[in-house]
Amino acid sequence: MKINSNFLNLKDSYLFAKVGQKTAEYKKAHPDHDVIRLSIGDVTRPLAPCVVSAMQKAVEDMAHVGTFKGYGPDRYCYGYENLIASILSSYARKGVTLEADEVFISDGAKSDLGNILDLFSADNVALVPDPVYPVYVDTNVMGGRKILYADATEANGFLPMPDGGVDADIIYLCSPNNPTGAAYTRAQLKAWVDYAIEKDAVILYDAAYEYFIGDGDLARSIFEIESAKQCAIEFCSYSKTAGFTGVRCGYTVVPKALVREGTSLNRLWARRQTTKFNGVSYVTQMGAAAVFTAEGEAQIKENIAYYKRNAKTIANCLDGLGIFYTGGQNSPYLWMKCPNGMTSWEFFDYLLENACVVGTPGSGFGKNGEGFFRLTSFGTAENTEEACRRIRNLLG
Ligand code: MLT
Repeated sequence: MKINSNFLNLKDSYLFAKVGQKTAEYKKAHPDHDVIRLSIGDVTRPLAPCVVSAMQKAVEDMAHVGTFKGYGPDRYCYGYENLIASILSSYARKGVTLEADEVFISDGAKSDLGNILDLFSADNVALVPDPVYPVYVDTNVMGGRKILYADATEANGFLPMPDGGVDADIIYLCSPNNPTGAAYTRAQLKAWVDYAIEKDAVILYDAAYEYFIGDGDLARSIFEIESAKQCAIEFCSYSKTAGFTGVRCGYTVVPKALVREGTSLNRLWARRQTTKFNGVSYVTQMGAAAVFTAEGEAQIKENIAYYKRNAKTIANCLDGLGIFYTGGQNSPYLWMKCPNGMTSWEFFDYLLENACVVGTPGSGFGKNGEGFFRLTSFGTAENTEEACRRIRNLLG
């Protein structure tokens, strides 16, 4: 037996696992210190009331012979009809028309972003921004694929644009971006769509943070851009939109117009999912279906406004300290420069040891992240204010 030796080319641990481990070690050594975590983007607001009642009703359905559900609908990877209908109506409000079997329900964007690579040959070249959500890089390393990087730096506002001289097959875009919080305009996305079509490439568009967009010029779906259905797959998640990080539900849109080498990628994904995946639980899907109702949208918008107030608290703190940062406007993340020329991990240790605040070192997202640090606005308002008070005391 031989292992997949590509795994040996991965960094020794996943970024957030390393942050978690260092935090746990610190807590063990200082059990009485009150550590505030503004690192992994995990939500703190409870589920919206209408989601909770939909899930309670679904549990009740499971308790009776007449309403009990086993495996999902025939083509279960597509999800229950009411859930799909609510997703289609949410797209329709963005001016995007989709067919029901272009939407696939999953347990979240992270798994689908990794699993989608089953569809692509190992000799395809991946183009990923740097810095970037580590999952895009690690899953391609596992598959032994060549990776090219598009530099996201202060100079380009952390929004790299296509370079016609670079030949890529699989292009990763995340907007609003994790980790930098930068977001592409429609015109910028159109340039990426044109590039992908010219190169016969496929864009894997991570829209996990679309609900944080407040600016009218920014697209919330790549499919708002003309011709995108011919070259893009979109990954969406209820995690940050509706507080589902612990519930697990997302959806991936593979348009039927997306055809490569004469083959429909929609058909390949359906084949992959029906073979390897048994769908998302009925109770979860019923909760998710409540998210895009009028009542659900109003309730989740309150949660998003709460996180945006946290982002403003952090932004005010950094402004007061004169520290450069991006994000926090159309995104839950703030991407700050480490003070006094510290490296990302030096600042991580400094902040943990002197303020008991945990963030995410920018270098964990790629070489261009060195010297940067990511703070999340997903904490509670109280913790966010307290963390900012400590940061002001330390750096002020
Ligand atoms: C993050 O903090 O970057 C995200 O929460 C990680 C994830 O969604 O998997």
